[in-house]
Amino acid sequence: MGSGYCSIRRNALRARALVVRATAAAGSGHPGGSFSMAEAMGCLFKHMRYDPTDPLWEERDRLILSKGHAAPGLFSYLAISGFIKESEMETLRSLGSRLQGHPDLKCPGVEFCGGSLGTGLSYSVGVALALRLDKNPGRVFAVVGDGESNEGQIWEATMSASKFGLDNLVVVLDRNYVQQDSYTEGVMPLDAAVPGPDPVAARGDRSAWRTADKWRAFGWHTIEVDGHRIEQLDGALHRALAHRGGPVIIVSRSVKGRGVEHMEDNPQWHGKAPSHQTVPIILRELESQAAVAPSIIAGDMARLDREVSRCQEAGADFVHLDVMDGAFVPNTTFDHAKIRELRPITDIPFDTHLMISEPVRSVRRYAEVGSDIITVHAEACDASEFGEILDYLHSNEVGAGIAVNPATPVPEWLDAFVPKLDQFIVMSVVPGRSGQAYIEESHQKTQEVAAYLRDRGFGGVIEADGGVNASNVAGCFADGARTFVGGSSMVGQADMGRAIREMRSLILGARRLGLLREAHRLGGPELVEKWAALHTVGGKADSIREMAAEASLL
Ligand code: DX5
Ligand code: ZN
Repeated sequence: MGSGYCSIRRNALRARALVVRATAAAGSGHPGGSFSMAEAMGCLFKHMRYDPTDPLWEERDRLILSKGHAAPGLFSYLAISGFIKESEMETLRSLGSRLQGHPDLKCPGVEFCGGSLGTGLSYSVGVALALRLDKNPGRVFAVVGDGESNEGQIWEATMSASKFGLDNLVVVLDRNYVQQDSYTEGVMPLDAAVPGPDPVAARGDRSAWRTADKWRAFGWHTIEVDGHRIEQLDGALHRALAHRGGPVIIVSRSVKGRGVEHMEDNPQWHGKAPSHQTVPIILRELESQAAVAPSIIAGDMARLDREVSRCQEAGADFVHLDVMDGAFVPNTTFDHAKIRELRPITDIPFDTHLMISEPVRSVRRYAEVGSDIITVHAEACDASEFGEILDYLHSNEVGAGIAVNPATPVPEWLDAFVPKLDQFIVMSVVPGRSGQAYIEESHQKTQEVAAYLRDRGFGGVIEADGGVNASNVAGCFADGARTFVGGSSMVGQADMGRAIREMRSLILGARRLGLLREAHRLGGPELVEKWAALHTVGGKADSIREMAAEASLL
């Protein structure tokens, strides 16, 4: 499995889809806690040393899922990383299967039977001690739940790990604020109380965070991250593995059920399988995850460092970097040297869009300065050059994209590369500068591109770039775009954070509408009503019903 940003993101969605199918087939299981740790698991599998052909290799790292009920989430990654076949996921919880409701040692890659909550960390301490005594370089990664932190044994283990200075042990606490039946802060709070009706309010209120304090008091080195931001988890694991002298905990603040709106922050989905009828809608929802990518050339070109900081403060998913060389397009913006300067400002992934001639000659420099995904233009290369670029990028764990200008059809030579592509940019302005109007024909073109890619096994994302704003973003989403570049509509706005929140809310509306249409197509108004009714948390069901009625789907 690839280990760059794009691969981890793709795997986290694939893992969730496997969990959905498997739990639906079993008629039971734990999707909520599998989804909250999906990005963390992806990053763990990137950093771990293991060999799926030799699961008991002496010097392997050990992954111990203490929150064992999230077994489907572990199994999905064992499938993705080659320990088991993906098709085996369908046997989840059936008699004789290696994949039971909790991890079982008969499944290759499983290190611990995590049925009884609270015991996995003690076990991890024992394994870490044994590895140290044996001078074995293997390390131990334990995934602990916040619900299971109710157990006193967790804290006994915490004290022991610190006493023994176990720097070969890293804990990821999946801090999703929900446990079986209820919210952690009501059952046994780990953070300070936040007044108000929202049971997960502490997640978004840094001043209320007390969880890491507890672990620090027990002598641990602590790191806090957003549990769905791959770049933060990845950075945290790098730092954790470099830490010496004692154990490290990464407090991963996550959303239970993340990725499927009706499961998010909803205790009901701790341990319940989706119905067969809703599976195709849920799978559609998983492929509907969207991202925003502010384009910094719409800001102050003399202070691009400040523009990157603004993207960071505004909570952007990507920073979109428009490189123009004065040859492929008349304008010149900046080159790899500037990107090198900007890279230390943020850990947000860099989405580098090369509007340059002969990208094959210089793509390497853009990878070396820390781009996470690099897109080159179809007009600027041929099949052999693009193949070279794609291979180079993938072997260096950088995502690879292709862009087409408004007047350019999809080149025929692209067919063979589609399954490997991470991104396809449909330009909706003639490239060259920010601030132009969206070319209306781009809607039609994006739909055609989406159909073309779907037929050829595309696993990446379509990015809409050029003139995307609040008035057309929902349409772009409906066309099939999933990443949205915003120059004037994001970086050009005085309050970029607010502009991004507005865009995200419009995108969410478009996603909900798309799913309602899918429900209608599959099961008429009856399924539409069932789907809306699933959204019990936060009064969403009513607004979703209203949307369905307005679209004449109810
Ligand atoms: C166009 C660039 C775009 C553009 C975005 O050549 O690739 O990224 O600058 O800016 P807006 O959103 O203002 O069109
Ligand atoms: Zn661009």
